[in-house]
Amino acid sequence: MRLDKYICKSTELTRSEAKRSLKYGSIKVNGAVVKNAAFQVKEQDNVLLNDRELTPIGLRYIMMHKPADTICSNVDEALPSLLNLIEVEKWTELHIAGRLDADTTGLVLITDDGQWSHNVISPNKSCQKTYHVWLAEPIVENVKEQFEQGVQLNNEKELTRPAKLEILSEKEAMLSITEGKYHQVKRMFAAVGNKVVRLHREKIGNITLDEELEPGQWRYLTNDEVDQFH
Ligand code: URA
Repeated sequence: MRLDKYICKSTELTRSEAKRSLKYGSIKVNGAVVKNAAFQVKEQDNVLLNDRELTPIGLRYIMMHKPADTICSNVDEALPSLLNLIEVEKWTELHIAGRLDADTTGLVLITDDGQWSHNVISPNKSCQKTYHVWLAEPIVENVKEQFEQGVQLNNEKELTRPAKLEILSEKEAMLSITEGKYHQVKRMFAAVGNKVVRLHREKIGNITLDEELEPGQWRYLTNDEVDQFH
């Protein structure tokens, strides 16, 4: 990795600040001052900034229990971004792999690994997401079959892909879908004459929301969880 990039990855410095610290001779690699930004740092190299050892931050993989009234965006809009709840270095480099509506709660995956999040959200990968759904009206008899066959959403050319509905009670169900169209779950129930009153994502692929996490809390994914999308 280039030395200026290595400095940025291990500090809060911008690229131009990193170059400035190089120019002023503040960086040593294996004991010797290096001023060349393009110098290639190898894994075993020891890099110091004013005698402080630098270690680049690796890729991060996080699960969060999203609370209601937060948005899945990198900036605050009418409501605060859920990234405000994550106090880690360089949090602006994180992004959300599969957004939820502001009023939806539950499992959100957050990372700075673009290829990994692509594997989570790309329609071609058919990753299954499971939602707990509370409804305004009782679930009518043939909804399970309709969802299995696909329903027509407003302004969409094709039917939804086959989805699995597990009915829990008169107005409560678990729905598993392999797409992520805008407001998909709410629109699917609207297409069969019902209305979602509460929505909570439980699962993405084989990653289940950790029961220990209260709304607003997060933890790093385990290696096994991360490997599912590599
Ligand atoms: N489907 C919705 O309608 N909303 C969400 O937040 C997620 C899936």
